[in-house]
Amino acid sequence: MQVIHEIAAMQAWSLQAAREGRAVGFVPTMGALHAGHISLVRLAKARAQAVVVSIFVNPLQFGPTEDYSRYPRTLASDCRLLEPEGVDVVFAPSAEEMYPTDAVTVVEVAGLSERLDGQSRPGHFRGVSTVVAKLFGIVQPRVAVFGQKDAAQVAVLRRMVRDLNLPLELVVGPIVREADGLALSSRNAYLSPDERKQALVLHRALGQVAEAAAKGERSAQALQALAEQVIATEPGAKLDYCAVVDPETLLPVADTAGGALVAVAAYFGNTRLIDNLLLDRE
Ligand code: PAJ
Repeated sequence: MQVIHEIAAMQAWSLQAAREGRAVGFVPTMGALHAGHISLVRLAKARAQAVVVSIFVNPLQFGPTEDYSRYPRTLASDCRLLEPEGVDVVFAPSAEEMYPTDAVTVVEVAGLSERLDGQSRPGHFRGVSTVVAKLFGIVQPRVAVFGQKDAAQVAVLRRMVRDLNLPLELVVGPIVREADGLALSSRNAYLSPDERKQALVLHRALGQVAEAAAKGERSAQALQALAEQVIATEPGAKLDYCAVVDPETLLPVADTAGGALVAVAAYFGNTRLIDNLLLDRE
């Protein structure tokens, strides 16, 4: 497994893979890897002849008061997790390499980037779409794998790929959870033992929504109210948003019969966690 820090070297490697007729599967990450990330690596491996994982804590997607400087950076242990997975290249550029001071171009998926997390975190999705577009240009993947955990990110990036005619397939992997249901996240490392217990309320709320939906409840309003009620039973949780939306447009739906995304975000102490549930079209 090679670790590449320079853009030119990464592009040269990808060009060579293309010459050899090897399709590249790509998993973009910010590192502090866990089993959720590894599940995406396995999906990439199953769909491509070569696998590249990027590890880059992208300053552009963090707000001025967010956790950019304290976000965990664990390149050595990340590489130890990736090596046995048969990853070919870890691309780990510096912020200076990715953003030379004269860069003026951004990618903005208008509308979609202002919804859900985009509403609570202004500029976040502009940072995500810009860095992912750059990474696609550098790694030139045939297949790129993302997690359903970040459902709004998936909607934004799908739209970017479609609007810009990017020649790749976007694959989405299911949410990987701890045994007790907490969705794996690099930010779980910030939680105190008490907050870790409180955070389970998100999975509990979505579980009750799933149960109500299975019993035939289709009213988005009723399902949203149910999730909010469950989250309100946990005094340690400060709700950021709870929404029932169309998974592609991220706009609210009235009825879930056509399929819906139930998405929640809440703070536990200073840590903001997200989770979601996809309700299939009936
Ligand atoms: P990061 O938070 O490191 O996540 C990298 C990928 O792992 C994303 O596609 C995310 O949805 C997925 N992921 C995270 N937790 C998961 C879980 N519990 N189960 C399954 N997949 C999970 O998302 C980002 O980085 C960045 O925004 C990035 C796309 C790399 C752009 O900077």
